[in-house]
Amino acid sequence: MKISTTVSSIPTSPTLAVTSKAKALKAQGKNVIGFGAGEPDFDTPEHIKQAAIRALENGFTKYTPVGGMVELKDAIVYRTSEDYGIEITPENVVVSCGAKHSLFNLLLTILSPGDEVICPSPYWVSYPPIIRIAGAVPVIIDTTENNMRLEAAQLKESITKRTRAIIINSPCNPTGTTYTRKELEKIAEVCLENDLMIISDDIYHKIVYSGSEFSSIATLSRELTERTFIIQGVSKTYAMTGWRIGYCIGNAEVISAMTRLQSQSTSNPTSFAQAASIEALKGPQDTVEDMRKTFEKRKAIMVSMLSDIPGFELIEPQGTFYCFPSVKAHLDRFKTTSGLADFLLEKALVAVVPGEGFGSPDHIRLSFALHDENIVDGLNRIKQALS
Ligand SMILES: Cc1ncc(COP(=O)(O)O)c(C=O)c1O
Repeated sequence: MKISTTVSSIPTSPTLAVTSKAKALKAQGKNVIGFGAGEPDFDTPEHIKQAAIRALENGFTKYTPVGGMVELKDAIVYRTSEDYGIEITPENVVVSCGAKHSLFNLLLTILSPGDEVICPSPYWVSYPPIIRIAGAVPVIIDTTENNMRLEAAQLKESITKRTRAIIINSPCNPTGTTYTRKELEKIAEVCLENDLMIISDDIYHKIVYSGSEFSSIATLSRELTERTFIIQGVSKTYAMTGWRIGYCIGNAEVISAMTRLQSQSTSNPTSFAQAASIEALKGPQDTVEDMRKTFEKRKAIMVSMLSDIPGFELIEPQGTFYCFPSVKAHLDRFKTTSGLADFLLEKALVAVVPGEGFGSPDHIRLSFALHDENIVDGLNRIKQALS
């Protein structure tokens, strides 16, 4: 059968590719340690699960409004005011089936063929494919030589007549880079001068470590709130990746067009997952901080052990649950990070994600969303295999 040109050009997510290889080995009874996970290993908090159970028991199993229930939009307005200190209305919110879906709807809604979107690299694997699906062109700015941080001057140089938007992901998957308010102010200035739309993917905003602080470009001024689209969701903050609830906050006209697009694809996100998300956003928040603290302890273990592996160089993450060391010193031997990842999976039974999919062919990504003892065991295996 003939596959469309658009879909033929979409790569398989490298994260999923590693996970499936690791799963195949596990199925053969091998003791594989997976550093590939892109999701918290904690269970969804009980009070959130109970809200979904109550919704099911009350027969809340039918269609809801396409862009999300009124009560969920109200909960998002409330949470946005709490977390960002900005006042929005339900007209600024559309709820979709996960933050990836929110981003997909947004990019399809605001981009036309030939438009350019700036993506600082390393970037989250899905940005360039979604931009291409929208017929637009990802313009990659490599920040590896700049401590993985985009500078305003670099941004300025990359802008052309066709540049429409920039994606800022802070804390960043895969690097953990978390921009300061001052850095964002400089980037924002260039965006304003060049009339760019800003996409602020803030999905890791609650997973930030001591010494750093989350800031969103959307909060810097009224003018910036108006040109920024915040991508958010419950997946990472509340350990709810499987529930598939994400949302976009932004200009009411664009939000309405996104809702129209969604009305012709998925319709509403799952009704009882929406009910659970209301509880997540409005209920007790202590589990969020408990998870963050656990991640911080694991990060300390991982950072210390990675710095002990010859040929690995790491910039300590300030947020997220990933480390993204450079393994350049090993690439004479393995040629690519995929080669290194294959070697580690075969010889050490350890799964890591190669950097190519993140636009960074010298790095690998290791998640610390796994128990301390597995982190220690896995990193010891890597060290041994490479020695
Ligand atoms: C940077 C970033 N944005 C968005 C998403 C999508 O999140 P969701 O699971 O809600 O679709 C992810 C998931 O890995 C991510 O890492």
